[in-house]
Amino acid sequence: MKVAQEIRLVESNVKEFISEKVKEISSTAGDGIAINALSGGVDSAAVTMLGHQALGERLKTYFVDNGIMRESEPQQIAEIFKKQGVNIKIFDAKEEFFNAFKGITDPEEKREAVTQTFYKNIFGKLVRESNAKHLLQGTILTDVDETIAGIKRQHNVFEQLGIDPQQTFGYKIIEPLVELRKDSVRVLAKALGLPESIYNRPPFPGPALAARIIGEVTRDRVDIVRKATSIVEEELKSTGAFQYMAILHQDRVTGMRNGKRDFGLQIEVRCWDSIDAREATPTDLPYNQLRKLADDILNSVPGVVSVTYNIATKPPSTIEAI
Ligand code: XMP
Repeated sequence: MKVAQEIRLVESNVKEFISEKVKEISSTAGDGIAINALSGGVDSAAVTMLGHQALGERLKTYFVDNGIMRESEPQQIAEIFKKQGVNIKIFDAKEEFFNAFKGITDPEEKREAVTQTFYKNIFGKLVRESNAKHLLQGTILTDVDETIAGIKRQHNVFEQLGIDPQQTFGYKIIEPLVELRKDSVRVLAKALGLPESIYNRPPFPGPALAARIIGEVTRDRVDIVRKATSIVEEELKSTGAFQYMAILHQDRVTGMRNGKRDFGLQIEVRCWDSIDAREATPTDLPYNQLRKLADDILNSVPGVVSVTYNIATKPPSTIEAI
């Protein structure tokens, strides 16, 4: 198994890294077309900028609207990149994703459904239609580590597991960030001229809100976790924490509403302090802030009767719930 050596980027070596990666991407892609998917996270954003420096119009960038992104995310990201001179095509794949999630509750099966839908169905189709030979993607070293360790099958790791993307999906994958961890990707994204809303963006996983739903991922359940996510993100963005999220549980608990029994939903809030996601501790949030969060979620997210705050560390927890 081939695992890259870590490179740590700081202001003094980032320019050199950029020019090396731009050269590498140009020589690997030759005069062919490549595609990449931008989710708006710092990893895929940095790859998009590197790819455009290397290939210009020969890189086709898509935002795959999989139905499991956050509120207004596709439009916001397309807008930010337009300002960077990069045109993004939004590809509607909601139907495909919700079909793939039907009846699945096991976390690893859910991750596999995301992987197959992205890489086989959607990128497969985009590659065929655009005549591309390569897919550029923002896999980082932590994704590889955790997948190889058998902790989680990250949605974007193949070659390190012995899976040949050319054979399996019909295209080659270029991974310019595979020597970096999150803190270095942020240095890179800043040096590439991306705005702070991107280079300091809290991480968001490839399987998106599906990583935050315990049990089946349906449109209705995504709507619930999306609303709770907006509230948590708004309330906790001032903390400067590494990552914060809302999780929808599968089990219901007895609650009451308007004087009647309400067998309702449970939302778990997590807020993490971490440098690079390998280890994390729960942020020491003031009790008042937690209470306000709970009130806002209870008042605005239909059906929720219980809100909890996770105080476990990673390990043994992981950052996402599935
Ligand atoms: P965990 O949950 O494994 O997460 O502690 C570590 C970091 O990785 C993100 N994450 C993912 N990122 N594809 C990704 O690109 C994935 O499948 C995936 N799963 C987790 C997570 O948000 C955290 O920052």
